[in-house]
Amino acid sequence: GQPRPLDINIDEQAAQKIKIGIYFATWWALNVVFNIYNKKVLNAFPYPWLTSTLSLACGSLMMLVSWATRVADAPRVDSEFLKSLLPVAIAHTIGHVAATVSMSKVAVSFTHIIKSGEPAFSVLVSGLVLGETFPLPVYLSLLPIIGGCALAAITELNFNVIGFEISTGFMGAMVSNLAFVFRNIFSKKGMKGKSISGMNYYACLSIMSLLILTPFAIAVEGPQMWAAGWQNAVAQIGPNFVWWVAAQSIFYHLYNQVSYMSLDQISPLTFSVGNTMKRISVIVSSIIIFHTPIQPVNALGAAIAIFGTFLYSQVNLIPTVFFFPCDLISTSQT
Ligand code: 3PG
Repeated sequence: GQPRPLDINIDEQAAQKIKIGIYFATWWALNVVFNIYNKKVLNAFPYPWLTSTLSLACGSLMMLVSWATRVADAPRVDSEFLKSLLPVAIAHTIGHVAATVSMSKVAVSFTHIIKSGEPAFSVLVSGLVLGETFPLPVYLSLLPIIGGCALAAITELNFNVIGFEISTGFMGAMVSNLAFVFRNIFSKKGMKGKSISGMNYYACLSIMSLLILTPFAIAVEGPQMWAAGWQNAVAQIGPNFVWWVAAQSIFYHLYNQVSYMSLDQISPLTFSVGNTMKRISVIVSSIIIFHTPIQPVNALGAAIAIFGTFLYSQVNLIPTVFFFPCDLISTSQT
């Protein structure tokens, strides 16, 4: 049965917060490495449909090997589970390929500015589709988070890209926002009350998405383009190019796996807010690695966004934990 409000132990909550904090830090760090290698690969090899497919293939392979060697316990899946996973996998595939197409057309930071609006999409979809509402302070705390992230990245925008590329980059990131919000909400429902772990849920999602994406990748780009593009990339970068592709694929799987381990514990909206904060680490590290000159406005934006997240955590968690502990179960865990 459900624990009574008073059964919720404050120590357990502190331990839970530390656990989520560790998941978030790991998720963000893995994502930074993914973003850097992903962009390096796309610069030399502009075939986002293939790189998206390879990321899923690599993750699927890693998990199949882990299950076969019993490094991880294989989940028990039935046809009902697979049926419920299908819409999630379609959303994951669309969100993934759309973000990668976006990043192949524009600066990584441009994609991340648009994607920092994900919590707004989460609130919108939760409201329109699930009829869920949040207290006003939650809505208000999203403003500095989204606005601050945009400021953190704004000067890195490269305005000399042509209109078509900007609009593809913009639309890709917007489609990705929408698709991922649906993915998160339905994943959360799919994991709830089931014995499957976040790690195995994401593994099944990867495998199904790979099956969905492969025929489309072949239709849109195809082996001929890939072969010519690969030769070109190896000529430019050298034989190490294959390791860049391996790195972007492995880190793609790892960061998503850890993100699903946290989604298992938090609400889709908190997930989206964590994901938006992650974008600051991506911007900051790309500034350091690609030697982008930093402007005071970027630092200000990052500070505003971090403050916004602090506000979000206060309005979203503290009142529920200390004043309405029973809501912790319904708000934070659903
Ligand atoms: C992808 O390829 O799926 C995107 O780069 C991921 O976007 P995310 O930062 O929302 O995970």
